[in-house]
Amino acid sequence: MLKVTKVMCEYRENPVGIDSAAPRFSWQLKGEGRNIMQTGYRIQVYEDGGSFECPVWDTGKVECSCSVHVEYKGPALKSGMRYYYRVMVWDNKGNKSDWSETAYWEMGLLSPSEWRAKWIAKKEIDGEQGYLPSPMLRREFEVRGKVKKARIYASALGLYFLELNGRRVSDWYFTPGWTNYNRRIQYQTMDVTDLLKEGKNAAGAVLGDGWLSGDLAWGNASKTYGKRIALLFQMHIYYEDGTEDIVVSDRSWRASEGPILMSQIYHGEQYDARLEKDGWSKPGYDDSDWTGVEILDHTMDTLVAQENDPVMIADILKPVALIKTPSGDTVIDMGQNMVGWVRFSVRGARGTKVTLKHAEVLDRDGNFYTANLRNAKQTIEYTLKGTGDETYEPHFTFQGFRYVKVEEYPGELSLDNFTGVVLHSGLEVTGSFECSNPLVNQLQHNILWGQKGNFLEVPTDCPQRDERLGWTGDAQVFIRTACFNMNVATFFSKWLKDLKSDQLENGGIPHVIPNVLGKDGHSSAAWADASTICPWTIYLCYGDKRVLEQQYDSMKAWVEYVRAQGSNEFLWNTGLHFGDWLGLDAKENSYVGATAKDFIATAFYAYSTGILKQTAEVLGYDADAKEYAALYDKIIENFQREFVTPNGRLASPTQTAHVLALMFDLVKPEDRQRVADTLAELIHESKDHLTTGFVGTPYLCLVLSRYGLNDLAYKLMLNEDYPSWLYPITKGATTIWEHWDGIKEDGSFWSPDMNSFNHYAYGSIGDWLYRVVCGIDTNKDEPGYRHIHIRPQPGPGLSYARASLKSMYGEIKSGWEDCGDVLKISITIPANTTASVVLPAAQLDDVFEWGVSLDKAEGVLSCSQSEKSVHLELGSGDYLFTYVK
Ligand code: BGC
Repeated sequence: MLKVTKVMCEYRENPVGIDSAAPRFSWQLKGEGRNIMQTGYRIQVYEDGGSFECPVWDTGKVECSCSVHVEYKGPALKSGMRYYYRVMVWDNKGNKSDWSETAYWEMGLLSPSEWRAKWIAKKEIDGEQGYLPSPMLRREFEVRGKVKKARIYASALGLYFLELNGRRVSDWYFTPGWTNYNRRIQYQTMDVTDLLKEGKNAAGAVLGDGWLSGDLAWGNASKTYGKRIALLFQMHIYYEDGTEDIVVSDRSWRASEGPILMSQIYHGEQYDARLEKDGWSKPGYDDSDWTGVEILDHTMDTLVAQENDPVMIADILKPVALIKTPSGDTVIDMGQNMVGWVRFSVRGARGTKVTLKHAEVLDRDGNFYTANLRNAKQTIEYTLKGTGDETYEPHFTFQGFRYVKVEEYPGELSLDNFTGVVLHSGLEVTGSFECSNPLVNQLQHNILWGQKGNFLEVPTDCPQRDERLGWTGDAQVFIRTACFNMNVATFFSKWLKDLKSDQLENGGIPHVIPNVLGKDGHSSAAWADASTICPWTIYLCYGDKRVLEQQYDSMKAWVEYVRAQGSNEFLWNTGLHFGDWLGLDAKENSYVGATAKDFIATAFYAYSTGILKQTAEVLGYDADAKEYAALYDKIIENFQREFVTPNGRLASPTQTAHVLALMFDLVKPEDRQRVADTLAELIHESKDHLTTGFVGTPYLCLVLSRYGLNDLAYKLMLNEDYPSWLYPITKGATTIWEHWDGIKEDGSFWSPDMNSFNHYAYGSIGDWLYRVVCGIDTNKDEPGYRHIHIRPQPGPGLSYARASLKSMYGEIKSGWEDCGDVLKISITIPANTTASVVLPAAQLDDVFEWGVSLDKAEGVLSCSQSEKSVHLELGSGDYLFTYVK
């Protein structure tokens, strides 16, 4: 039985409102037995109203093994049209599948001229200053008959949510998302067929300042992108009788202030329930005391369809404890450092208040600690209307917290009335890692929660203090781990478009994307290199060539920017750099580690140029491929002349320098083992502990394992004393900390000016857990795990480890168990992929697969022996290998 499952269009099941002219289809195969490969496929597409009998596109049988990112090549797609499609496949065993379940995708509004709506805003009142209440906008409209389908296309300058006839339209938050609003702004498409009724209807919108005009960055700069917040709304109602009505935002809308008195990303929300306007988004509401609206002159040319899934509620947490602190505060413990908000219920007299403050940690005495939030207030103030049970959650703000201080609350406080609502961009969890050490399992948990908390619209450094920005360096450092834990392909391809749109004319890359720090802060090595590393990583992990096409000019402009710096085009020794940020070998009172900045800069210059060269090869840009291959060689040559002695010693005697030289292949092959051994010595000198910062840490264990020092990598990862990955866990961490010693041995804190307890950068060790401990890797020549490398590397201190990854082809698994003399390795390879497997410390004749020798095992396509390992080529299937070590 051969089946087609998980049929997707542009990474999503049944997406509504996309604007790709050639959407890509992906699907998975399921069948019986091993070594299933697709030999052909057929796709049929029909337009809404039609049928598969008369498809608009039918590929016929295509002899091809491709099942991921197969491009639509039919007639031009129509705006607003829904297309239904199905897929059939053939395999290498002579089977033909049935048609898949019918799936669909729907196009958004494809051209600016189709926007009939206007940007509308509440009228400005002279002299208005400070935080303003959130405007509410409404209008009524008539539905003339039986509705066949209805869609809203909407966006906002600022943030918005919609209601129709008293019901919230979507379960999305923080729409239209965060982009550089002056260059590109996303719109969302919503299917509202079921929310309309014949006769009178009403539409309502509430707007928030959000990133557009609210406080942003540590200077509390506001109005970053503009000072007016506005709505864009266009609803198409299609009737059964073939006619259509369009309801748009225009002068007919009414505006008012409502209960949201203040809502700021960093500071929280003030909400006065007494000011609620009951029934405001239902027909028949009396809006005679509302005012008219103003039309803003803002372009439609920058509108783009939402590309990734918007922010949604991802988890609900129940509090674990109610604490009375030594200084007398009442504090709720959510048990997890989380990002989102608190939903609460309350009963009390009209005008009484609930005030909540949010913090990540308690101090060493057990008191509520907020100094590390700097200027972010993270405070919720709710005023009761006094009509019975009231339930509230905020709207245009989010908090990074584990502890909630309840400053005011009428009546008895019961934990049952409080819930932690976890929010992040809609992302599918794709990876899992588990091993015999509970602290390491907690580490994996913390890495995942760091990702949840910081993947809210853009990849941020931290989610709590007055920062929460798309720091490029942090994103670059963490992206490979992120690709294991969750499917982040569309999240990053959207963010990379933001990066491209904010790139400076000279090719420089701002420190944060979207750039809110002005045009002077840009182009630090290892930060700006996100422009090459991130697209390349998405290509490797998802086989997504389009992201390379999309970013190519940006990648090239970045490399050319670096090339133009200083007097030697092959070295990079000028400019501002963050260096090995937070490295422990930094001078007293400095955040910058000891590794020479020009060493790091030139190393990343080489790395980025190498990526650009490979990208040009993938895209078939032959002249560029040649050009950048030559540039790459020159940089390596100059790097060696400048930073490596003739005998292969590095000029910068730090762990990070050695890590980079090895990771990026910067020293001659014959010198590499020496550099690795010196790295080991440097680590021994630090009593087998790391000293690396943001730049060196992600690669540290990877290079140790690569150069025969796997045991030392295990030692570093399993250290429990400072500085190490597990030290924070011994101090109760539930997310990754910014500093190795955010909380010191004696319980005191690192200084409050930079002490985030939810900073994912050091969570980049996740890459090593998946890629080395369990050994799951892709092959850059057949990316997206079309050809899989499985090379588990067990080490001292763990008796088993297992990992899984839901790749585009299906789930990959790799796990091992050390049973003393015997090693068991279990592997799952999805259909339509193959794998090269290395079984460590194995001899061909000793290895059995479910009790069968390798030459007889189904799916084992070939096997060979190297000095210490057995090499296998596997087709799809579940395998269990057992052998005496
Ligand atoms: C951020 C970092 C970032 C750094 C740049 C900090 O404020 O939190 O994670 O990469 O600045 O050095």
